[in-house]
Amino acid sequence: MKVVAVSGSLRQDSFNSALLSAAREYFFAAGESPEVEWIEADIAAIPLYNQDLDGDTKPDAVALLLDQIAGADALVIATPEYNYGIPGPLKNAIDWVSRPAYRSVLAHIPTLIMSASMSPIGGVRAQGQLKQVLAGTLTPVFPCPEFAVASAHECFSDGQLTDAATAQKLERLVVDFMAWVNAEIDFEH
Ligand SMILES: Cc1cc2nc3c(=O)[nH]c(=O)nc-3n(C[C@H](O)[C@H](O)[C@H](O)COP(=O)(O)O)c2cc1C
Repeated sequence: MKVVAVSGSLRQDSFNSALLSAAREYFFAAGESPEVEWIEADIAAIPLYNQDLDGDTKPDAVALLLDQIAGADALVIATPEYNYGIPGPLKNAIDWVSRPAYRSVLAHIPTLIMSASMSPIGGVRAQGQLKQVLAGTLTPVFPCPEFAVASAHECFSDGQLTDAATAQKLERLVVDFMAWVNAEIDFEH
């Protein structure tokens, strides 16, 4: 089972990237059969979307991301909330891999979304916006209450998820998501 992980933050010490690292361990633990291959996508080098550049030959960073998602069984996105919305680099990356409309690599790929923020709300507004964007790409999002890590600075230490309650919930989320992905649902209908 190939899982592509996308962090919506480019920041070195990002809580969202740390959240993905914590999730990765639960994917590995839950995924003995089938075994999980974890691919960390890097959206930092993706240029600003320009339809003039979106021809048969894509910019290298875009081509790599397209390739990674095309070969994946599932997508996991952890995003910060910037001004009540999703960060520009994440929306930009989604726009690049969203063509052809409704038939892109994003269509029908089971996706788990989550957020972390230093605020007490944890980035749920960004998740709402992300769900709306992914509806436009026909990307099935795991139906669950928002997994949002609030006051993230109190839940992580040196890039590790140290809050036991959050870790327990994350493990459950990953196990449930994997069961959903493996349920042989035909996401194309
Ligand atoms: C430009 C900017 C706007 C932000 N707006 C929000 C916001 O609307 N809601 C929120 O919860 N946090 C907001 N934050 C705080 C970020 O969610 C917080 O810094 C978070 O840790 C960033 O994610 P990261 O640690 O993965 O980089 C904002 C931060 C920045 C830099």
